[in-house]
Amino acid sequence: MRTIDDLSIDGKTVLLRVDFNVPLDKHDIVTIRDDARIRAALPTIKDLLTGGARIVLVAHLGRPKGVVDDALRMAPIAQRLGELLDMPVAVADSMAQAVGDAGHRVILLENIRFDPRETDKDPLRRGELAAELSTGADVFVSDGFGVVHREQASVSDVAALLPNAAGRLVQREVEVFTTLLADPDRPYVVILGGAKVGDKLGVIGNLIARVDTLLIGGGMAYTFLAAQGFPVGDSLLDVDHLDAVRGFMQQAEERGVQILLPVDVVVADAFAPDAQTKVVSSTEIPDGWQGLDIGPKTREIFAAAIAGARTVVWNGPMGVFEMPAFAAGTRAVAEALIASDAMTVVGGGDSAAAFAELGLDSDAITHISTGGGASLEFLEGKDLPGLRVLEVTP
Ligand code: 3PG
Repeated sequence: MRTIDDLSIDGKTVLLRVDFNVPLDKHDIVTIRDDARIRAALPTIKDLLTGGARIVLVAHLGRPKGVVDDALRMAPIAQRLGELLDMPVAVADSMAQAVGDAGHRVILLENIRFDPRETDKDPLRRGELAAELSTGADVFVSDGFGVVHREQASVSDVAALLPNAAGRLVQREVEVFTTLLADPDRPYVVILGGAKVGDKLGVIGNLIARVDTLLIGGGMAYTFLAAQGFPVGDSLLDVDHLDAVRGFMQQAEERGVQILLPVDVVVADAFAPDAQTKVVSSTEIPDGWQGLDIGPKTREIFAAAIAGARTVVWNGPMGVFEMPAFAAGTRAVAEALIASDAMTVVGGGDSAAAFAELGLDSDAITHISTGGGASLEFLEGKDLPGLRVLEVTP
């Protein structure tokens, strides 16, 4: 994969795709809740500036579906980026306006998803926007790892029109995920959580062929428990995927892969921070109660599995960690990763956000991925359009 070291950038205008899709608080004024994705782009931006380039950044925010939404404008992002770079960052409505702005070295285009052509299914329509984006740019650098799984004008189509390369973030993410797919140190343990088992079917299917142990927590665990015939009360249950889950458990057994499910859970009588709670065996969840976190015995078992691993990947919280009563499981897994000296990788916005929200120091983690869907699709072994195009020289 070409990197920015392979491009000539001195005096050139670089079109740089980044993923600035950050969580926002939308009250009277829009504020950024977590700027990790903006900070993750800094190494590339700084290297391009040091190399003598002018940068036009292109990014999306949310899913405005091709229409202008004032709550999803890039102004707060440009402001934050300017603070981090200690230089003014302008927002431009079009590539033509950005190219004509001689007063700034870093310019951020307005939310590219305000333009319906960005996400159009028709490659010709996307191609029109890609052609506009490439006009006035000398090279394209792809550093929005969080969107490389999308076939979109500013991600894949534009790369076909300009000399291109991966930025530092994409380079690092690809390096880490390639190691996980091809050559992980063993034992290799993956912890999956989060609410929706349906979102993780592909990745579970692919991981069963690669990992030694799979730990399942969070909302998706209840579908695994129900698939074995245990009552789950009012817990989250994905009836459509019970058969798929049974299939995975069968495959895991045939391959000698250990799947560890919760042995105990924290149940509540309502989905509320002040609900009544108790710890019960995961095979005996009473009617009228719902599991909202893994229990203390499970935390110990999961922490021990993590402590014995040489490679650990974690995607998805173990419970509703936003409510303190159901945060202990997610905290225990995060702390086990921090204590581990294995290669530790955290993917998915929620697990990454858990470190900040629970006040935990993520510096001890080998790699916190900026990709949610992208990191899962990489682990599924899928062909990612935004990476495929970087392999081809235009
Ligand atoms: C993300 O937040 O995972 C990326 O920015 C991709 O966003 P999308 O799922 O709206 O394409």
